[in-house]
Amino acid sequence: MTSPHPITPALPYQDPAVPIPERRADLLARMTLEEKVGQMLQLDARDDLEDHVLRRHVGSILHTSPERLVQAAALTAQTRLRIPLLVGEDCIHGHSFWPGATIYPTQLGMAATWDPELIERVARATAEEVAVTGIHWTFSPVLCIARDLRWGRVGETFGEDPFLIGELASAMVRGYQGDGLDDPTAILATAKHFAGYSETQGGRDASEADISPRKLRSWFLPPFERVAREGCRTFMLGYQTTDGVPITVNEWLLSDVLRGEWGYTGTLITDWDNVGRMVWEQRVQPDLTRASAAAVRAGNDMVMTTPGFFEGALAAVAEGLLAEDAFDAAVARILTLKFELGLFEDPRLPRADQSVVGSAAHAELNLDVARRSLVLLENDGTLPLDATAPLSVAVVGPLADDAQTQLGDWAGGSGQAGWLEGQPREMVTTVLDGLRAVDGWSVTRARGADILTLEDDPRGTHFPDNQPRPRVVKPCEPDADLIAEAVAAAVSADVVVAVVGDRIELVGEGRSTATLELIGGQNALLDALIDTGTPVVVVLLASKPLVLPPSVQRAAAVIWAANPGMQGGRALGELLAGAVEPSGRLPISFARHVGQQPTYYNQIRGQHGDRYADLTQAPAWAFGDGRSYTTVEYADLQLEDAAPAVDGAVVAHVTVSNTGARPVRETVQAYVRDEVTSVSWTDRELKAFRQVELAPGASERVRLEVPVAACTIVDAEGVRRIEPGEFSLLVGPSSREETLLSAGFSLA
Ligand code: NOJ
Repeated sequence: MTSPHPITPALPYQDPAVPIPERRADLLARMTLEEKVGQMLQLDARDDLEDHVLRRHVGSILHTSPERLVQAAALTAQTRLRIPLLVGEDCIHGHSFWPGATIYPTQLGMAATWDPELIERVARATAEEVAVTGIHWTFSPVLCIARDLRWGRVGETFGEDPFLIGELASAMVRGYQGDGLDDPTAILATAKHFAGYSETQGGRDASEADISPRKLRSWFLPPFERVAREGCRTFMLGYQTTDGVPITVNEWLLSDVLRGEWGYTGTLITDWDNVGRMVWEQRVQPDLTRASAAAVRAGNDMVMTTPGFFEGALAAVAEGLLAEDAFDAAVARILTLKFELGLFEDPRLPRADQSVVGSAAHAELNLDVARRSLVLLENDGTLPLDATAPLSVAVVGPLADDAQTQLGDWAGGSGQAGWLEGQPREMVTTVLDGLRAVDGWSVTRARGADILTLEDDPRGTHFPDNQPRPRVVKPCEPDADLIAEAVAAAVSADVVVAVVGDRIELVGEGRSTATLELIGGQNALLDALIDTGTPVVVVLLASKPLVLPPSVQRAAAVIWAANPGMQGGRALGELLAGAVEPSGRLPISFARHVGQQPTYYNQIRGQHGDRYADLTQAPAWAFGDGRSYTTVEYADLQLEDAAPAVDGAVVAHVTVSNTGARPVRETVQAYVRDEVTSVSWTDRELKAFRQVELAPGASERVRLEVPVAACTIVDAEGVRRIEPGEFSLLVGPSSREETLLSAGFSLA
């Protein structure tokens, strides 16, 4: 295509030999006001690309199909300055919407591995797939703390613990960003959603986050601070307001804390139409002119999907609300990313060789993560099943053979991208596939229940910002015929594998749930199956912790598989057949009843009593829980120094023994309890963990180290500090008090 604006290649900003600050200054000086405003915009590639690129001069696009990505680049070649586009996408557990890409377990599933090194490898592999397809930026990882399980986005998080989130998120950022942006396989990571978005009212997505600065500093900010200091290049701002102020314009959080205290020099991007939402949703700005001015003043660099920001920001200049140079700092930050990625020299368009996408090596890694993500919650000894016996296995339940549902949100057919309905069926092994692959077993199949149907929302199919309005879920009634068929299969089988859980219509943005129970005919199905007396292994294929019916107390075993990705069925088959050992641990607590919300383990001390009149407060399964096929004992916890110096560490040793007949990968967890605090604080917080592999009968003396600097609380003034006094180090296999050994130490 010939450009209407031929330019000589000798301009300083185009010369890779010129240092980036000079290239940036040169380019900035050439840009018109319109080009600067446009540079701050990221628009939806599914809309009018010509308008985006040629008229609004956008700096970035997102949600682009392979075809439109190439079209957008061709349009860029027609622009005056030929500033390359940054292309962003939500590649949050694999290259979500690229046909044939590897889709891993969801972030919550990955968190159940408790293995930062493994997660770093997943992020690296994802970056390799993403980078060859012309996409430069992933909106991942999510650092939100999952607290109210009704929230639709729990499955996108690393769970409920700030320390675990920090460990796993920083590994993921390292994996995405590789050895630096000039590495052709590096992509930009995004820490999102800054900050407090998950602190919903009743689980309602994007509702006001009722959260004080002190509470933010105590639990919500630490994972973000960590990745900011470690060089995560972009941060995305949540949708929510806090104390009435949308995060997009929260000066304290953006300027004082993030850019000030933490010295963050990276780029800030709003979430979807945050600027518009201030007008039409939150109604804290009268029009887009003022909303755009406020967003620029607060230090946002890139404005996601508010096309009217273009006109709004220009009007703000015309009306004197913004100076002409108000955009320079933001544009400079965006251009820095483009220069560092080398996009002016090579816009990193889709490569001819995309063989790394969905490669066999990545499938192998995916299988490993899937295996490690499975959490065995209960087992009466039925598992592992005997792989050498000619077992007859009834595979029952609506999710046993539903390939796309198994991939979860932000994958293939989950709805955010219109250009593919799902990932190729042959790339996915369902639970049914996984069990059929076990040699010597005969497998029967019955669906047993339906989950839901959908109806249009009578208020229309779209929201005012043109985002699709979720259709209304109608739970299915239990179906007597389906149940009878499943019961017949169960009665003539040696064992039942019942695969139940949630579906995409109950998961995600704007799809929080009021209840946590299994929807539709699933509870009735489980009741009927368990009543047959045939051992029932319940496989919970659920994006987030759900509440299981009382009959499950009589089930033979319960496994939580999250949304286990493309290799999930194979991993489950192997686990059930004893070819791999269960090693996943819960990154989030499971409630017994929705009314127990919140159930996270690290709640503040102090309340009257410790139970509801009609129910315990104890979760069904707690943070850190997870069984093995063997038994493990902890003994002889000792500290090297019970009064370590303030710049030192609490170093502990504990003997961990495999007392059973099968190997184990044990996750040894260390929690710190500050015995007396100047303000109320949580009773114990995870501060370290280590995984050890032990053969049957083997023991290991495991060393754990907690920096004294981590033994802090946030005081009444909001200052994080160590308070001298007595502490306990609690070590064991789970966050549950009764499982933990304790050793006291004091800090002067
Ligand atoms: C809105 C979501 O909240 C955010 O997580 C995502 O990255 C953007 N949309 C872009 O799809």
